[in-house]
Amino acid sequence: MMNLAEPRAFRAAILHLLDDPGVALQPLPPSVQYYADGLLVVEDGHITALGEASDLLPTLSADCVIEAFPNRLIIPGMIDTHIHYPQTDMIASYGEQLLQWLETYTFPTERQFAEPAHAREVADFFLAELLRNGTTTACVFGTVHPESVDAFFAASAARNLRMIAGKVMMDRNCPAYLQDTADSGYAQSKALIEKWHGYGRLAYAVTPRFAPTSSPEQLAAAGQLLADYPDVYLHTHVAENQDEVQWVSELFPQSRSYLDVYHQHGLLKPRSVMAHCIYLDAEDKQLMAAQGAAAAFCPTSNLFIGSGLFDLMAAKQHGIRVGLGTDVGGGSSFSLLQTVNEAYKVTQMCGNKLSPFQALYLVTLGGAKALYLDDKIGNFAVGKEADFVVLNFEGTPLIERRLRGVEAIAERLFVLMMLGDDRAIDASYIMGKQTG
Ligand code: GUN
Ligand code: ZN
Repeated sequence: MMNLAEPRAFRAAILHLLDDPGVALQPLPPSVQYYADGLLVVEDGHITALGEASDLLPTLSADCVIEAFPNRLIIPGMIDTHIHYPQTDMIASYGEQLLQWLETYTFPTERQFAEPAHAREVADFFLAELLRNGTTTACVFGTVHPESVDAFFAASAARNLRMIAGKVMMDRNCPAYLQDTADSGYAQSKALIEKWHGYGRLAYAVTPRFAPTSSPEQLAAAGQLLADYPDVYLHTHVAENQDEVQWVSELFPQSRSYLDVYHQHGLLKPRSVMAHCIYLDAEDKQLMAAQGAAAAFCPTSNLFIGSGLFDLMAAKQHGIRVGLGTDVGGGSSFSLLQTVNEAYKVTQMCGNKLSPFQALYLVTLGGAKALYLDDKIGNFAVGKEADFVVLNFEGTPLIERRLRGVEAIAERLFVLMMLGDDRAIDASYIMGKQTG
């Protein structure tokens, strides 16, 4: 067995960000740290040094094991700020938009998670798939069944992963077989918080599915949980689809907007993760920023289920924390590289450019900030947890060919993001230890 306390060093091209890099590419913005021949030193699962290999090699202790990765790029582990593990087996379901898609595919699929053995089997596959794609942290929906969350957290703890998850709360407008109540949803969520929140690297998210499937009493119960446990997360969907927005305005006529429904129930705060946020007006955006809530931008899902275009730059200009989400099974890929590819195209459709460094920020430090985890993960600052990914500049024949003669890291990264997927991920390391 590898002794994790012993120092280990990883030699490759290394890229990470100290802050939001803005749009500049050349010269490299000061927030972009790039070492063409870098060394990342890890001890006891945490970063102890990062720099040029030539500077750091002479400083290593004699017992330090060095792993070298030629023609590879090490970046921080990627962060998926919105995904549904129980929807793994319904990814790529044909032909429907949100409300019909939920009825036709989602609810019957989620029904199966009443069975703990099924939940365990899917959780294992799901986590392996995340790691194969270079995703080391995610903010994850379970189903209404507490067993689904037990299975997910147990599987995450066994792999020492930093994960956020919660049990869906939903007490109306859904099949009886998936309903809880305001009281049972509160009690089950509370028990799961007591059991899992802060256990190892795990954190709990109070997870009302979305406003249409929770009564006002249940939303109030969710708000009560946040008041009882101020450092848990809130994870939900908002303003994803126009029919959904219309429905919410009918269900909650006293609210100014869809987002306001959540605000009125005390659900907008630091550590609130709001998936989609496509149809927010200026007042909503100001509220998101003022409350410290985060938006999860889910471009593959927004395109796949025909929801709309999220205006990333407008959200950033309002000062909203934004992360990237695959939203599998609404999203059509587990790969955050592929998700960046779609984010780039959506941003083009909004008349803006998403630079490769900004895209890297979204899936690393920006995602960590969205989840208030930037003191622990998101870049290679000394002391942070050593979750990282080894990307392969030869991951496919086309990537290898396209990169011939390309020196600039901005262009090399952009090509990896546009052409890469799981084939461009060589390995994921969790606290300095290779997975899989
Ligand atoms: N809104 C409510 N539930 C869901 C879900 O499971 N997926 C997506 N994309 N949107 C939702
Ligand atoms: Zn979702």
